[in-house]
Amino acid sequence: MNRRNFIKKSMFGGASILVASSFNNSSVWANTKGDNKLPAILGGQKSHAGVWPAWPIWNPKTDEKKLLDVMRSGVWSRRNTVTEFEQQWAKIIGSKRCLSVVNGTNALNTALAQLEIGWGDEVLVTPYTFIASISSILFNGAIPVFVDVDPETFQMDPNKIEAKITPNTKAIVPVHILGLPCDMEHIMSIANKHKLLVVEDACQAWLAEINHKKVGTFGNAGCYSFQNSKNMPMGEGGAIVSDDDAFMDRCYSFHNYGNPYGSLAGQFSAGTSMIGTKLRLTEYQAAIGLAQLARLEEQTKTRNVNAGYLRDQIKDIPGILPYRLYDNVTQAAFHLFPFRYQKESFKGLSRSGFLKALQAEGVPCSSGYAELNKMPVLKNAFESKYFKMFYPKRRINYEEYAIENSCPENEKLCNEHAVWFSQSLLLGSKSDMDNIAFAINKIHKNADKIKNKFND
Ligand SMILES: Cc1ncc(COP(=O)(O)O)c(C=O)c1O
Repeated sequence: MNRRNFIKKSMFGGASILVASSFNNSSVWANTKGDNKLPAILGGQKSHAGVWPAWPIWNPKTDEKKLLDVMRSGVWSRRNTVTEFEQQWAKIIGSKRCLSVVNGTNALNTALAQLEIGWGDEVLVTPYTFIASISSILFNGAIPVFVDVDPETFQMDPNKIEAKITPNTKAIVPVHILGLPCDMEHIMSIANKHKLLVVEDACQAWLAEINHKKVGTFGNAGCYSFQNSKNMPMGEGGAIVSDDDAFMDRCYSFHNYGNPYGSLAGQFSAGTSMIGTKLRLTEYQAAIGLAQLARLEEQTKTRNVNAGYLRDQIKDIPGILPYRLYDNVTQAAFHLFPFRYQKESFKGLSRSGFLKALQAEGVPCSSGYAELNKMPVLKNAFESKYFKMFYPKRRINYEEYAIENSCPENEKLCNEHAVWFSQSLLLGSKSDMDNIAFAINKIHKNADKIKNKFND
């Protein structure tokens, strides 16, 4: 079969800059030498010989002007550009208020702190996430309690939440991990029943929706990350959204030294009213954010179309189990495209062998997260001066905690099954998706040869 690969890369002014509108324009022929039936790892032709869309993307014509305007204004600390970004983010998310902060980690830290989730409290969270979801709980002095995942959706399993609720449970942190929405309707019904606060970690889930309502707007607060690799990149950046004015005023105050809501950067003697710190976004970051916002909806649609197509192309390959979205999901963010790999259907070829073979085909992929519920940070936190001071011994007995917080489904996902493609692959063309499917099919057909050759 003659394999075509399309590169969707444009060069501007000598700099390697990819522009959204160029995605489906330019193309080159793939390296067509060699046997396309033989896996690339065994010397055959690569399934994808082209270049994947680079990340981040910016448009020199429009975006660089925004940044230069900020520089030339001489106003670099928080002012009108940051406010404009916050207003636009609140609008696109469908929330009354938005506060930008330095990153997603501090969005979570702030939201939890200003909802008074802290010392003495237990917070229910998935073990299948990035460390910041957990560290923000510990940072505030609360204890993370892990709810195992539903391996089909990769999300916190709502059916396992109630068994973890104790008199100390104060909140749930649903993490819309990989950009796929949690089952928020189910989670909110449990939270309402048990009067629990909900802080959504939507740090990977910009514009993801359940019944056309954006994730981040279901609970008391929603948090986002705008770090460089994210679908909405600013270098660094984060945001909190909520409809609760009093809470948002406190968050603002906290992010600006504890000075009252509305106090300005550079304002002296503002009447500091609460313990605060400094987490302000700069005007530069907001300018980049506004530029990125202009293309986020279109990119999100492209990722959804490509993810759906790729899912269909690979779902019938034995041993490949793509993610499942909950029925009420109307849009996902697809920060990552996940599937489960079952080596039994690949003649016993290990996941790491499969990943190496897929990478050799020209398809970047990874095995994803390690088990967070077993990270040393938990034991070390429990053994720290403050945890010992604030908690009775029985509540920070790490050995018991480790047993109570074992998550067998998560363990399998992390150590055996999960495979990810990153969001930028999903900005490729339909034929790029075909190349991925072709590569996986090829590996499946030749699994025994790959396994033998590499003594896997
Ligand atoms: C699920 C999740 N939560 C929180 C964060 C923290 O965001 P940041 O890196 O902007 O601090 C991230 C970032 O990767 C994340 O993926």
